[in-house]
Order: sequence, then C-alpha cells, then structure tokens
Amino acid sequence: MSQSTDSILIIDFGSQYTQLIARRIREIGIYSIIQPNNISLSLLKDLKPKGIILSGGPESVHKSNKLTVPNYLLDYDVPILGICYGMQLLADYFDGKISRSSKKEFGSSNFTRIKNSRLFQGGNIPKSFNVWMSHSDKVTKLPQNFQIIGSSTNSNISAFSCEKRKIFGLQFHPEVTHTQHGRKILNNFCIKICGCRKTWTTKNKIEEIILDIKNKVKDERVLLALSGGVDSSVVAALIKKAIGKKLHCMFINTGLLRKDEVRDVETNITKSLKVNLITIDAASNFLSKLKGVKDPETKRKIIGETFIRVFEKESKKLKNIKYLAQGTIYPDVIESSSKKSKSDVIKSHHNVGGLPKKFNFFLLEPIRKLFKDEVRKIGKELSIPDYLIDRHPFPGPGLAVRIIGEITKQKISILQEVDNIFIQEIKNAGLYNKISQALAVFLPIKSVGVMGDQRKYNYVIAIRAVQTTDFMTANIAKIPYTVLNLISTRIVNEVPKVARVVYDITSKPPGTIEWE
Ligand code: XMP
Repeated sequence: MSQSTDSILIIDFGSQYTQLIARRIREIGIYSIIQPNNISLSLLKDLKPKGIILSGGPESVHKSNKLTVPNYLLDYDVPILGICYGMQLLADYFDGKISRSSKKEFGSSNFTRIKNSRLFQGGNIPKSFNVWMSHSDKVTKLPQNFQIIGSSTNSNISAFSCEKRKIFGLQFHPEVTHTQHGRKILNNFCIKICGCRKTWTTKNKIEEIILDIKNKVKDERVLLALSGGVDSSVVAALIKKAIGKKLHCMFINTGLLRKDEVRDVETNITKSLKVNLITIDAASNFLSKLKGVKDPETKRKIIGETFIRVFEKESKKLKNIKYLAQGTIYPDVIESSSKKSKSDVIKSHHNVGGLPKKFNFFLLEPIRKLFKDEVRKIGKELSIPDYLIDRHPFPGPGLAVRIIGEITKQKISILQEVDNIFIQEIKNAGLYNKISQALAVFLPIKSVGVMGDQRKYNYVIAIRAVQTTDFMTANIAKIPYTVLNLISTRIVNEVPKVARVVYDITSKPPGTIEWE
C-alpha cells in the first residue's frame, strides 16, 4: 500500500453489510480495508488508517464471550465511527449503557437530527429522514462527554458523538441504499472528519499495481491460468503492461465451456491482449472422470481436482516459470481470511483462483485488493474490449453445474446450443447489459410436445436471468414476454432434442443462481 494513499480501516464484526461499507468508501475515492476484530498493533501501525469504522454484526455486548476490540485500537488517535453493534461496543467501552432486547428492529425507521454534528453537515441533509435499522440491543445511557445527535422512532439515542475525540456512533446503516443521505454521512466521516483525500482512483490503482508487479517479479517469467472471464483478462492485461512477453497464459478446455468459447477466447484474448497463450484440450479427461457422477458436490470436487492436476502437469512442461498469477479479488480474500464467518458452505466453489499453494511457484495476485466493479473499471481504462469486460460471470465448473444429473457429450452440446440462442436473443433485445447473469439449465426429464403433426418426447430446458450487484442476493430479471416467447420458439425449433422451455422465477435467496 503506497504511503500516498489515504485509507479507512473497517473492523468486521460479522455484519452482512461489512463489504458494502468498504465498497461505499471506495466509491467515494478512498481506499478501505477490512480486518478482523483482533487486528494486531503492528498491522494497525503499518496500515496507518486515517479513520476506523466498527461494523455491525449479530453480537450483543451482554454476551460473556462477545467480540470486542483491543484497547490499542480504540486508543489509536484517529476518528472512529461505530455502526450498529459497533456503536454499542463504543458505548460499552466508554461506560454508557446498552439495554438488552430480544425484539429486533428491522427495516425502515424515521431518524431526526437533534444536534449539529460534522457527520450531518452539507449536502442538504434534512432534519428528518428515513434510515435502515437492523438491531436488537440499543444504547440507553450516553457515555460521559458524549451527546445525542439523533433519535429515531424506536430509540432515543440513535446517533451519538464525542466531537472533541472525534468518535461517532450510528444505530442505523448508512451503507445501505435504503438509508437516505447515507453516502453523504460516510463522505462526511471520511473527508470532513478523517481528512482523507480522494486518492483511490482507477489511474492510481493501475500505476500502483503495475509498479508492484515490476518490483516483485523483476526479470522472472509469470504463468497465468486464463479463463476468458473479466478477472483473469484484467490480470493478463496488467501483467502484460508490467513485464510484456515474460507473461505466459494457459487456457484449459474442460469440455464444459460455452459454444465456440475455445475459439472465441483464443482469438479475442490473443487479439486484444496480445499475450502468449497456450490452450490445453483436456475435455476427454474431464468427461471420463465425470462419467456416471450425478451428485452436484461430487461433480464440483472432481472438476476442481482434475483442473489442478491438468494445470500441474502442463505447467511443468514450461521451463523457468517462477510466478503463478491468479485473479483473486477482494471478496475472495475477505471470505478466506474471515475467521468469524459463520455462513455455511452452500456450494464448494471452484475457479482458477482456487489453485493450491504447494506448487513450486510464488503467487502473484495483482487484483486481490479490488472489488469486481473496480476490476471492471480498470479493464475499461486499459481498453480491454467491452465484450470481455461486460461478460456475465461463468462458473469455474462450467456447464457441469447446469446439467442436472449425469453429464454426457450429448447433453453438453444441447445445452451449448440452447445457451447460445438465449444469450443471442437477450443481446438482440438490448437486455444483455441490463441483466447480471443469464443461463440455461438442462433438466433430466422429458416432456411431450407436438411439432407439425408429430408427437415429440424430448428434454426440458430451464432458462434463468437475474439482476444483482453482489451475486449474494438476486432478483429475477423481468424479460418481456415477447422476448421470452421468441427465445422459447427458437430453442424448440432449432434444438431438436428440446421439447419445452421453462423460465425460472426464483429469487436468491431462497434459490441460488446456478441450479447445482
Ligand atoms: P450461486 O449459484 O452460488 O452463484 O448463487 C453465485 C455466483 O457464483 C457463480 N458460481 C461460481 N463461480 N466457481 C465460480 O467461479 C464456482 O464453482 C461457482 N459456482 C457458482 C455463479 O455463476 C454466480 O455468478
């Protein structure tokens, strides 16, 4: 982290909104970093944050084993903002009172400013506005030298401050879009109160990353497992800029890719990124390992394992490679470093970022500090073509998790045709960039239909399209009926083995985006 970059440290207490806080701050143009509550003093000193935010979380200060923070963090002489549980923790530390409640206040609430505070300055923030609450306990007695700066429908002390020591608490969530003026409040904290400069710009990020790569790699050669998706394409472009021809890219054809994907990746990536590319055709290897396997988790594990073995074998053939580059992004880093993560493993994810570290390579992860939207902006700035940058995500296990039950060559080619028609038609309708992800699923059932005068007994395909910003929750995309009609007509007419098309209308949650 270069010393010319101002940053805000976010301490994570397990809130579902912690990443959102980090993203909002970066949207302002300020670097933010998430750390667990037991951050060491030496790391804190290294990071030199200009402000600290304590996130919300499912905790209660009344629990004997509550999550707390070391004294050196609260005594570190920079402004602090506690959000929800973070506010209660501050109140507890400075000897205020928090009353226990088993009743959760969840949803919209009306908030009224009681006193002037730098947190609410400028931007025409009105006296009363709507905020988003998600808490049970609440602060009922102020710590000494603190003042109430706002109340809400259900709690008198909804916002407090100690302006002299620059400590602030908000019971509501300014990072959530349902909170009016939330961005302005975060902006005030970072800029007016912490004095951060907006140094986290796309141009600065690119320069910093390229310099880091050069310093780290020097004259060595780097191998990158390329998937043709946004992250690995941007990584390729960045490394190419840093070390030129010393970058080697490997693209593994698992046989589970979309129609013409191998050809497209080969021509597009070599044409637009001008990198050395080796394609490994491992389709028959993957298919033979998957023969007879129906269970989704087993399929994922087999694909992940096979991918690693193929990569291992092929990379050994390349001589003098010292670094292995990966497209790991910040949410992956947070997920794997979060010791407090209580979320269940819903699916074991496999992607090219999941390669084991026991390879004889040093690891290079140039975009590990970045969120997806930042990666996209960098890609645009580096003139990577829009069709690469705006591509919908495609899972590492590919079409395998879109074929329910056993995978066969025939099912893959049916699904490739269907997927191709579906994507073509949403592009023709001008919907591709409005939809976050669109996919087709092969169902292991047959249904009766009629074509001309003939009875048809063939497969059923489900199509799914969702809108989302974070892929953790998603709404179904509202594709007009006329477009759906055209899609289903084309699929049934053009793909002989398909008799019926259904549209998946399940949000996430409860449904996941992929079917397996
Ligand atoms: P789910 O199905 O979990 O998907 O709602 C959320 C997002 O993750 C993608 N996905 C994967 N990506 N390897 C990946 O690289 C995987 O194993 C994997 N499984 C799901 C999915 O396409 C969606 O964008």
